[in-house]
Amino acid sequence: MQAACPHPAVHAGAVRVIGARYRFLAGALGLACALLAPGARAARPFEDSMAQRTLPCTVCHGPQGRAAADGYYPRIAGKPEGYLFNQLRNFRDGRRHYGLMAAMVDPLSDAYLQEIARHFAGLELPYPPPQPPQVPPAVLQRGATLVRDGDPARGVPACMSCHGAALTGAWPNVPGLLGLPRDYLNSQLGAWKTGERRAQAPDCMADLLRRLPDDDLAAVTAWLAAQPLPADPRAVRQVPTRAAGPMTVACGSAPELGGRAP
Ligand code: HEC
Ligand code: HEC
Repeated sequence: MQAACPHPAVHAGAVRVIGARYRFLAGALGLACALLAPGARAARPFEDSMAQRTLPCTVCHGPQGRAAADGYYPRIAGKPEGYLFNQLRNFRDGRRHYGLMAAMVDPLSDAYLQEIARHFAGLELPYPPPQPPQVPPAVLQRGATLVRDGDPARGVPACMSCHGAALTGAWPNVPGLLGLPRDYLNSQLGAWKTGERRAQAPDCMADLLRRLPDDDLAAVTAWLAAQPLPADPRAVRQVPTRAAGPMTVACGSAPELGGRAP
């Protein structure tokens, strides 16, 4: 299927919204229109590869999708393909919100979004060093316990039970939790808690975050951001083993994990 460019009004709207200071981003959006459309070959004087077509994405997401330095624009390189595909559909279908990106992915077909996801998932690039923790050791310890064991009394499953024992994610749909800045983790998990970010139903992350108090969440993100990646930073290829029990909730975006609907 062929992608269409956003209506010019969408582009003009984006220019108004972001203002003069960020006009270069609006330029990227216009460029994206030309580059992301597989049919628009005449407009492209250079090699037609996915790396070229997705250059506009890297204006925000950093070189090759390695993340920008400020922790706001997330890394997309090397995240599992199904996870990236699901996020692109989430922006397109309104479960996540970021106007400029939605305008880019709105006109694209599922097949093309999958190709984009495959491209970024296949990039194996170095990760940034861990961030020195800025919380007391007891808080870090609490974070580590929650990640490994969850909080059975509150019905919070261990992060490792889905994100893998090494926390590098599980192919194809579960992302890793290491190598992400604390600011990014806090903003994403905060948005999930308030319903601003959503995944396909049943939304297991939303479900567990509702049961995790804010100070525990802060302990978890402080610990995660302070961990180095293991020697093999790739997502594991097998489904993590999860003990059956009341905490084995199902995830609509990762049906392979199994579990019951919450
Ligand atoms: C104008 C800046 C901008 C451009 C251009 C842009 N993005 Fe994004 N993207 C963002 C921001 C900001 C977020 C995080 C939004 C949020 O959830 O708060 C994001 C999130 C994402 C995510 C989810 C990441 C995750 O780990 O959950 C994916 C995947 C993604 N972008 C892919 C793309 C692709 C592919 C392109 C090119 C077609 C692109 N982006 C272009 C700014 C941009
Ligand atoms: C029941 C399985 C399950 C458990 C337990 C779980 N997660 Fe998740 N998590 C997922 C799935 C599935 C996704 C992808 C959702 C989507 O497609 O948007 C996800 C996504 C995430 C993301 C988004 C990553 C990104 O790059 O934006 C973060 C952060 C996260 N989880 C943190 C945690 C933390 C912290 C814990 C433990 C407190 C945890 N998760 C426990 C299944 C789980």
